[in-house]
Amino acid sequence: TVPDITLNNDVLIPQVGLGVFQVPDGSTQEVVEHALELGYRHVDTAAAYRNEEGVGAAVRASALPREELFITTKLRNGDQGHDSTLKAFDASRRALGLDVVDLYLIHWPRPDLDLYVETWRALEKLYAEGAVRAIGVSNFLPEHLERLVAESDVVPAVNQVELHPTFQQPATLEATRRAGVAVEAYSPLGQGRDLESPAVTEVAAAHGVTPAQVVLRWHVQQGTIVIPKSVNPRRMVENIDLFGFELSDEEMAAVVGLDSDERIGADPATFSYSQY
Ligand code: A2P
Repeated sequence: TVPDITLNNDVLIPQVGLGVFQVPDGSTQEVVEHALELGYRHVDTAAAYRNEEGVGAAVRASALPREELFITTKLRNGDQGHDSTLKAFDASRRALGLDVVDLYLIHWPRPDLDLYVETWRALEKLYAEGAVRAIGVSNFLPEHLERLVAESDVVPAVNQVELHPTFQQPATLEATRRAGVAVEAYSPLGQGRDLESPAVTEVAAAHGVTPAQVVLRWHVQQGTIVIPKSVNPRRMVENIDLFGFELSDEEMAAVVGLDSDERIGADPATFSYSQY
């Protein structure tokens, strides 16, 4: 089973979740239902992914007690601003069919709008009302996080950022941890591209695990929360089976050595697409 991480407000989050970015809404229910059968208890979606309905349908179909599940969704760029955030949250909550969302994130800082502090005030309100159990941010660079912490009351519970062996963002990681904010890795496998280097495959062979398990273990061993995406049941099973082996300091260092500072996704400093 997957251990929990304690967030800075004492809420527990399973350290491994299923990411559903790019899973079409038509197949999301089936994929998430399957994941829940396989033991996943944490699902990460977003308004921008257009599959919140499928996630909600799977939650209901599973008949699992609501308190055993951890569901994250995110506010789209185009919905930033105080009132529009409250409205967008309501739409997400209805799409999911949930009374309470476990974690609600600002999806991107959108520095061009200069609205993320005002937007955060709306998330603080949702948190105070108990509509969400925790609030956080995504794609925040150190300057965004530091400004948010300085200008608001609730410290974000998480910062969810792109993180994988070839893009390790040490400055963002350090700033996030220093602020007492948990790190969540999206694209933890580099969208499947970070699995072929010998530093990974040799360690995998030595432990009798797959390259994906080595990369995910490398994340979790640093205390990072991971949300690997898979629609394949065999790979879904692999991706939560990370707690029966341990990487040595040398093996951890070999993965650290793969950093080439190359993003796959958008750059938070400039990304402004409203649908996202
Ligand atoms: P699939 O959905 O067919 O399993 P990331 O989470 O970094 O974005 O990576 C997701 C990509 O990696 C998807 O293309 C996914 O394909 C693939 N993937 C997920 N889990 C594994 C795994 N255990 N082994 C190999 N590829 C994987």
